[in-house]
Amino acid sequence: MSSTTHSPWWRSAVIYQVYIRSFADGDGDGVGDIAGLRSRLPYLKSLGVDALWINPWYKSPMADGGYDVADFRAIDPLFGTVADAEQLIAEAHEHGIRIIPDIVPNHTSDEHAWFQAALDAGPGSPERERYVFRPGRGPDGAAPPNNWVSCFGGPAWTRLPDGDWYLHLYAPEQPDLNWQHPDVHAEFESILRFWFDRGVDGFRIDVAHGLAKDPELPDLPPRPDTAHGQPLHHAQHPHWDRDEVHDIYRAWRKVADEFDGDRAFVAEAWADTPERLAAYVRPGGLHTAFNFDFLMASWDPKDLRTVIDDSLAMLSGVSAPATWVLSNHDVMRHTSRYARKTVARWVPNQRYQPEGTVDLDLGTRRARAAALLMLALPGGAYVYQGDELGLPEVEDLPESVLEDPIWERSGHTDRGRDGCRVPIPWSGQAAPFGFSPEDAYAAPWLPQPANWKQLTVEAQTGDETSMLELYRTALRLRRENPALGDGTMTWLDAPAGVLAFRRDAGFVCVVNLSGEAYQLPDHSSVLLASGPIEDGVLTTDQAAWLTV
Ligand code: NOJ
Repeated sequence: MSSTTHSPWWRSAVIYQVYIRSFADGDGDGVGDIAGLRSRLPYLKSLGVDALWINPWYKSPMADGGYDVADFRAIDPLFGTVADAEQLIAEAHEHGIRIIPDIVPNHTSDEHAWFQAALDAGPGSPERERYVFRPGRGPDGAAPPNNWVSCFGGPAWTRLPDGDWYLHLYAPEQPDLNWQHPDVHAEFESILRFWFDRGVDGFRIDVAHGLAKDPELPDLPPRPDTAHGQPLHHAQHPHWDRDEVHDIYRAWRKVADEFDGDRAFVAEAWADTPERLAAYVRPGGLHTAFNFDFLMASWDPKDLRTVIDDSLAMLSGVSAPATWVLSNHDVMRHTSRYARKTVARWVPNQRYQPEGTVDLDLGTRRARAAALLMLALPGGAYVYQGDELGLPEVEDLPESVLEDPIWERSGHTDRGRDGCRVPIPWSGQAAPFGFSPEDAYAAPWLPQPANWKQLTVEAQTGDETSMLELYRTALRLRRENPALGDGTMTWLDAPAGVLAFRRDAGFVCVVNLSGEAYQLPDHSSVLLASGPIEDGVLTTDQAAWLTV
């Protein structure tokens, strides 16, 4: 894994997201862990991914699935130990797979030693300065310091018995750190070094756009109208995507550059415009950022083309590669998103509530086409565990099993994100579908639907029509074909509703989003198609890779 001077791995990588609690359970407690992940490395190797992004595995009381970290230098006992993590990193490297853990710098757990010290030390203490503590407003300080709201619902402030309020942009168990404090900078740079020393290849940065807050903590202005497609203007926002945040990442870049082997960051940054997103990946800043515009786009040729063009234009201006992603652990799985006849465009900061009948055959057909589109675009791509199996969202989980804090914080009006976090079905005819070992003493932490027996890795392996074999073939072709990954693309003339583009060396990708059958352009071979092609005709919601 030596560094290459022209095109480092992260410019083209296909990165597989491991939501560790739901990937593979090694010790039989019904929760995925490092032992389970290690046992499945051969599967990931045969799938053909370049790297794994692993959701937080640190010591945590799990108020938000591990995004509430109590100790960044320890692995939670649910998942294993630091020695297990080191072993995983070594074994993954032997398979030629890189490892990118999550890092959560916006907040800690309320059980983190710093927050506990802040609670003990009381109002006005230096310990409280590492977080955002303030007195309240109103005669008794009984009103929160400002009108900020938690992303999980309700106010972003909680009051302590001693009268002080503390800020949490997420759950009350996730107090926000104060990034104007030098201790916070020093501590995170030290945590990065701790894990880089153990061989990780980079980090996915959680809420990368949230660290810098306006020191005055002003009220949020009245919310601009998003209902008509107007962007929210984050540039002057008191806590999202502020310009100062980039100073932090310039320092982190220097830390990454101290280590050999092309260590790389990917930012989870929500920005209003491709320009503001591109600012995260300017030279000297982070390497890549998730491109959520692609994930939020509707299944509509104009919308997709605009997103692709705008993303590539902005990123090439700063010489950064694009990333493409269809699903992750925070959003409805795209097989289900695309299963409604009309796929609504997702509006950031608003709950996604698709309407209409769910037709999973339709969703699966589109998901297959979307995979070929995504994997043919210039840059890197993310595959969320289960995308390769075509797993749908589990939309009917019983309320009694829901764990996402959104469910409680929304007063039971929003079921939250558990439906995309159901444990992976590996084999067999009944739950736990090989997720846990045969002698497991607990059921999977979320119940798997009985009809997932058709979607197990075992059931799909060797079935040429399966989603799994489509992904395997696409990833193999992508590795073999120098036209794919980093580079440029050129749109080709095509009828309305058909997206057709060329990559170098005679590679063409065609996606038919029109209601009409489309006769493929002249080509020498069909490398791969998302569905059967007869007489050179691409039907609606089909995609093909061609050589010309
Ligand atoms: C974004 C993560 O993807 C999400 O799962 C988490 O709840 C929030 N950040 C808070 O850390």
